[in-house]
Formats: sequence, C-alpha cells, structure tokens
Amino acid sequence: MTDTVHDIEEELPPQAPEQMKIAILVSGRGSNLRAILEAHRAGKLTRAEIRVVVCNEPQAAALEVANEFGVPVRVVDHREYKGDRASHDAVIARILRAEKVELVVLAGYMRLLTPAFVEEFAARMINIHPSLLPAFAGINAQRQALLQRVRITGCTVHFVTSAMDGGPIILQRAVPVLLNDDEDSLSQRLLTEEHRALPQAIDLFTRDRIRIIGGHVSIRPGESSFPELEKDVRPMTPILLATGNMGKVEEICAILADASLQFFTTACFPGYAEPKETGTTYMENARIKSSYWARISGLWSLADDSGIEVDALGGRPGVFSARYASSSRERINKLLAELRNVPTEKRGARFVAAAVLRSPEGEEYSASGTCEGQIAFSRCGGNGFGYDPIFIPDGYGRKHLAELPDAVKNSISHRGRALDKLKHILLKLR
Ligand code: GRF
Repeated sequence: MTDTVHDIEEELPPQAPEQMKIAILVSGRGSNLRAILEAHRAGKLTRAEIRVVVCNEPQAAALEVANEFGVPVRVVDHREYKGDRASHDAVIARILRAEKVELVVLAGYMRLLTPAFVEEFAARMINIHPSLLPAFAGINAQRQALLQRVRITGCTVHFVTSAMDGGPIILQRAVPVLLNDDEDSLSQRLLTEEHRALPQAIDLFTRDRIRIIGGHVSIRPGESSFPELEKDVRPMTPILLATGNMGKVEEICAILADASLQFFTTACFPGYAEPKETGTTYMENARIKSSYWARISGLWSLADDSGIEVDALGGRPGVFSARYASSSRERINKLLAELRNVPTEKRGARFVAAAVLRSPEGEEYSASGTCEGQIAFSRCGGNGFGYDPIFIPDGYGRKHLAELPDAVKNSISHRGRALDKLKHILLKLR
C-alpha cells in the first residue's frame, strides 16, 4: 500500500510555478511588447501570465505584435472620451480588474494616467523610460540627452507614481552617446537595452524579489531567468539600522561595507517614534530597539546600545551615557568636570556596545564588544562622535579615538568588535 502511494507521488508532473497575471499597456510601435512576448515564449518569464494587451490607439503597430503572439487585445480609443481622461482610465481599470491583473506594464503607453488609476495600481505598475532618470523625464528624452551633450544616457524601469517619470527606480541600463549620434541612432541603441531591462524587471517582480522600502527599491538575491544581467541589478539584502544617529549609521555602514547589504534607516519610516529605552543593560536596550523596528519595518533590524563606563565613577554613566546630559558637547563637559581632580592613573574607562540583529519573525542574534582606555583631560580630534574626542584607547600612544582614521577606529571600537562577531550571520542574510 505504502509502495503504491509512493509510486503515484513519483508520477506526478512537476508543479508549475505560481504565475502572476499581467497586463501590458501600449500606444505605438510595440518593440518593447515584442521583447516581453518573445521572452515569455522562450520560457524566460515563467512566473508571468500575460492576460491582456490594452491599447489606446486603434492603428498602433503594437496590436499586430499582440495578435502575432495570440495575446488578447482590448482597444480603448481615447478619442471616444473627448478629453475625459478619468472615464477613459476607468474603462481600462475595469478591464484590468476583470482580468485580476497583479502587474501593469507600461510598454510605450503614451498617455498620462489619472491619479485614481495610478493609486489603484500603486506599487504594481511599472514603466520603461528612455533615459537615466531622474535626468530627462517627460517627452523626447533622447533629444534632451543630445541637446545636453551628455556622454552617457540609458533607460530606466521604474514604478509609476503621480510624479511624472518619478517613481522608485527598479533598474537602469547605460548607453553611451556617440559623437555622430542623431535621435534615431541613439533611440535604436537605447531600444536594445530597453528590450533587456523590461523583461528582466518583469521577471524580478513576478519572482517577488522587489520591495519598495521608504520610497526606494530593494532587490533581494534570488533566482533569475536572466543570470547574465543579474550583476546589473546589484541584488542586496535590505537591513534596517535601528538608529537615527547618523554618526552610528556611517560607522556601521563602514564596518559592514563588504557585506552585500542595503542599509535603510529609521528615517525611511517617518511617523514612528523611537521606542523608550527602558532596559537596565545595553543588551536589553538593543533588544527593545531591534524588535520594535523589525516589527514596524518588516526587515531584519540591527540595533546597538552603547555607553562609556568610567572606573572613577563606579562605571557611570554606563547605560545612561546618551542621557547623561542633553547634547554631545554638554555630556563631554560634564564628564570632564566630574573627573577634574582624578589623576591619569585613575582615569581608566571603557566603551561597551551590545548589538542585536533581529528578524521580523523573531529570529535573533546578539553580541557585545568593549574598547579599553582612559578619559583624557581635554578634547582632541575631529573624527567619530559622542565621547570619542575625550577617549584614549589602549595601544595607540596618547591618541584620542577621534584622532584615529575611521578604518583604525572601526577595527578596535566596541561597536566594531560587537558587529564583527555578527558578521558571519550578516553575510548570510537573505
Ligand atoms: C520606448 O522608447 C519607451 O522607452 C518609451 O516609449 C518607447 C516605446 O517604444 N516609453 P515601443 O513602442 O516599445 O517600440
């Protein structure tokens, strides 16, 4: 009996991949439409089901292209709506709704869409434009490029928003402008790249590899039907740095520069207050911040909490270092004042950091790091931030932390050391 069941399972055909329903809107020649349909026919857009081509021009050559590939066509002639764009777009929206379309591709659709239509298909409508946006938005992008005598132009696939040609950019391909180029020759070379970019963007979207985070596109690593073009999209894993402190952001980005991570900050999620740091340890506070921001952002979130512990003050200010006084300048002044009569040999101190990396689902990794040294008698150095100008790390003569080059500081700092311990996890994030 068991054997029979096993046999039946083995005979089942492989499961077809889940497909996303697509509509393509066109107005003219239809060379981009052809590129999409050829890629589809060649088995490259396995996740896409092309439901319908919608065209506003009854005479468009694109209609013949759709017919040639046997794709259903709907013509919605804008002239019949006598300037009433809203009604024209409403008819198209009805067609797309009836087809349960999940992605709308504008492939040379030459009419501005009304806000209601754009809103209905927000984050699931893409367009191809023949320039490297934000340069040369609007019409005649090729002519604009020639008039500006730029040496490089290109094409852009982007999400459609109410800003003309201004939505989040998915991918771009560069095209050199040659000395003897005219509009036709340049357009022709641009089209070659457009025909690569648009099918590739559809492939990425239908494989669910694209996210819009804080108004920017993030393309995560994954399978592709166009492996030869994969290097151009720079797939990276998005990660939220759960801090509004730009000094920390810069430092963390430098420490993790060789990981394939795309960094976002809490500024991408306006309207959310910072959580209260009610922990009694660095680790507790880092955990509060990382879990709060992972929940809000839906991203892996990295938070740290750090402080400076001064021996002569029994370890103060410690976990309260950031709240020791109201500004960076005042914090340093207060600490120097408290230590005014403490001799050099009793000015021992250390920076301590705890870092917590947490997924939205609650998977968590943590590490801590310390940097031993002394509190100086006065400020020195312009690098770093926080207490760096008055901290003298062990092993670098009498140099203050703020005097050391970033790379050196990051290799010995408390944060650098904590993050270093998490690096093997960060390198594997997907
Ligand atoms: C392309 O240049 C595209 O970038 C722009 O309109 C043109 C359409 O060409 N949006 P085609 O109809 O796909 O040949």
